[in-house]
Amino acid sequence: MSSSSSSSSSPSSSSVTTNVGSIRSNTVRSFKVMDVLRKANELQHKLDSDYDAAVEQEAKAKAETSEGGVQSETTTETAITERIQVLHLEVGQPETGAPKQVADAAIKALTASSSPASNSNNANKKKNVNVNVMGYTDAFGLLELRQRIRQHYTDKYYISSEESEEEETNNNNNMNMNMNMIPDVSQIVITTGSSGAFLLAFTACFDVDDVVAIASSGYPCYRNILQALGCQIATCPINVEYKLTSIELQIEIDIRKKQNKPKIKGLILSSPSNPTGSMLTPTEIYDLCLLCNKENIVFISDEIYHGISFGDVKEATALQYAGCRSTASRTTTGRTTESNNSNTENTNIIIINSFSKYYSRPGWRLGWMVVPKQYVQSINKLQQNMFINAPTISQTAALECFNNLHTTEELEKHVTKYTINRKLILNIFITGQLKGLSLDKNVAPADGGFYIYVDLGDDNICVYKNNNNNEDENVDLGSVTMCDKFLDEYYVAFTPGIDFEDPNDLKNNLGNRRFRISYAGSTENINKAMNKFIIFWNTIWIIDIAIAKKKQQNEME
Ligand SMILES: Cc1ncc(COP(=O)(O)O)c(C=O)c1O
Repeated sequence: MSSSSSSSSSPSSSSVTTNVGSIRSNTVRSFKVMDVLRKANELQHKLDSDYDAAVEQEAKAKAETSEGGVQSETTTETAITERIQVLHLEVGQPETGAPKQVADAAIKALTASSSPASNSNNANKKKNVNVNVMGYTDAFGLLELRQRIRQHYTDKYYISSEESEEEETNNNNNMNMNMNMIPDVSQIVITTGSSGAFLLAFTACFDVDDVVAIASSGYPCYRNILQALGCQIATCPINVEYKLTSIELQIEIDIRKKQNKPKIKGLILSSPSNPTGSMLTPTEIYDLCLLCNKENIVFISDEIYHGISFGDVKEATALQYAGCRSTASRTTTGRTTESNNSNTENTNIIIINSFSKYYSRPGWRLGWMVVPKQYVQSINKLQQNMFINAPTISQTAALECFNNLHTTEELEKHVTKYTINRKLILNIFITGQLKGLSLDKNVAPADGGFYIYVDLGDDNICVYKNNNNNEDENVDLGSVTMCDKFLDEYYVAFTPGIDFEDPNDLKNNLGNRRFRISYAGSTENINKAMNKFIIFWNTIWIIDIAIAKKKQQNEME
C-alpha cells in the first residue's frame, strides 16, 4: 500500500492563529471531525488528480506509440489501476440523501409558481401547503410542521409510554409518566439544525459564568458552544457503561457543594450518545429528570439519534418525565423504596431533535426543540434576531417526513442497513479478528446512533516522553496517530477520540486512546474499510506498538 502525504490547500482550523478577536472565541476548540473530513477530502482530490494525470499520460504514450514514435521513459508500461476512493467512516452522516418524497416535495415547491407566504391553519391539508418557499416563515416555523411534530410525540411516545407505564406498574416500580407531556404547538420551535437549537437554548437559559454539566465523553460542540458563550463547564465522568446517569450527576452536585463551587445550572447530553452509542434506559432518564427537577437544573435532552436504536434499550424522551417530582429514593436494584410522585408543569426540560440523522437530511439544516412555556417568549425573540427562521424550503419538504408511508418505509430501510453494518463491525471484535481487542474490553455499548466507540486501552498504544528531553524523540503512538496513519496509508478515515473526550483530563488523555467508527455509510464501504483496518491493525499497528514498547522498556532499564 503506497503512502501518500496530503497537500494542505486550506489552513487547519486548529492551526489558524487565534490571538485575534474575543478572548472567548479564542478558547473554542475546532470540531476535529471536520478537520479529519477536510484532510480526507484533500487526499481524495490528490488521488483523483494523480489518477487523471496517469490516464492522460497513458493516452499520450499510446498515441505516440501508434504514431510510430518512441515511448517516453516516464510512461508506465502497466495499465492504470482503479481510481482510489477514500472511505469516510469519520463523519456521522447518512450517505443516503433525503427520502424521495421529501426531495420531490422540495423540487415541486421550488418549481411551482410561488404564492404569498402564509401559514395555513389547516392542519390536515397534507399536500400543496401554501408557502412562498423563498420567503420567510414566522420565527417558530411553519405551523403545519409544528403540528406534525406534536403529533409525532403522540404517536411515538405517548401511546408507548402508556404501555410502558403498564409494564412498570406490573413491575411494582413507581416510575411516573407525565401524562401532560404532549406539548402545545406554541412550545415547538423549528430550528436551523439541532446546532441552531443549542445556541437558542443556551442563550435563553444561561448567563456568562453559569455552570453547565456535560458527560466526559460526548458531542464536542456542547462544550465548544458553551465556552463561546462564556459558560463554565462541569465535566461529569461517565460510568463503566459509558453513561452519565443521575448517580454521576449527583456525585458532581455533591462535590461542588463540598468544595463551595457554584451550583450546576444546566445539563446537556444525548441519548443515544455520540460518540459512545450508549443509551439511557427509560428509568435512567426518569431519574435524571427527577434530579434535575429537584435541583432546578435545566436539562437539555438531545434526542437527535432517536429512531436509530437496536432494540436492547427502549427509546424514551425526557419529555415523558417533564414536570415529574418525587421524594422517592432508589435501591441498588433500581426499585423505588418510597414515593411521592406528582406531575407539575414542565419548567426545566428542553428537548432538541433534528432531521439530520434518522430523517437522513443533514445538509438541509433543520431541527426542532420543545421548550417549557416560560421560555417561549425569549426563544422567539432570540430566533427572530439570530436566525429569523429555519430554511423555508427545508421546512416545506419536512412535511413529508411525517405521516407518509413511503418515507417511513425508506427511512426504516436505512435503519435496517445500520443494523447490518453494526453487526458486521461488532462481529470483527467478537471473533477476535483484531489481535488484542475484544468486544467486552474495548468497545462501548453501541445501543443506538451509528457509531462504534473503541478504547484501545494502554496495551495498544505507546505514548511516552524520551529521557533526553528531546521533543522530536518523544513517542506518540496513540489513537490520533493511528487514525492519521490509517488515512494516509489505507485511505480510510476514522475519528480520533480527542473530539469527544475532556481536553482537560491530561492524566488519562482518553482522547488519544479512543476512536470512533461511523457506520452510517454503505455496507459495501464499511466492509471494505473494516477489512483494510484488520490488515492495518494486525500487520502494522500492533507491530509498531510492540517495537515502541520494547524501546521504552530498554530506555527505562
Ligand atoms: C449528538 C449530536 N447532536 C447534534 C448534532 C448536530 O446536528 P445538526 O445537523 O442537527 O445540527 C450532532 C451531529 O453530529 C450530534 O451528533
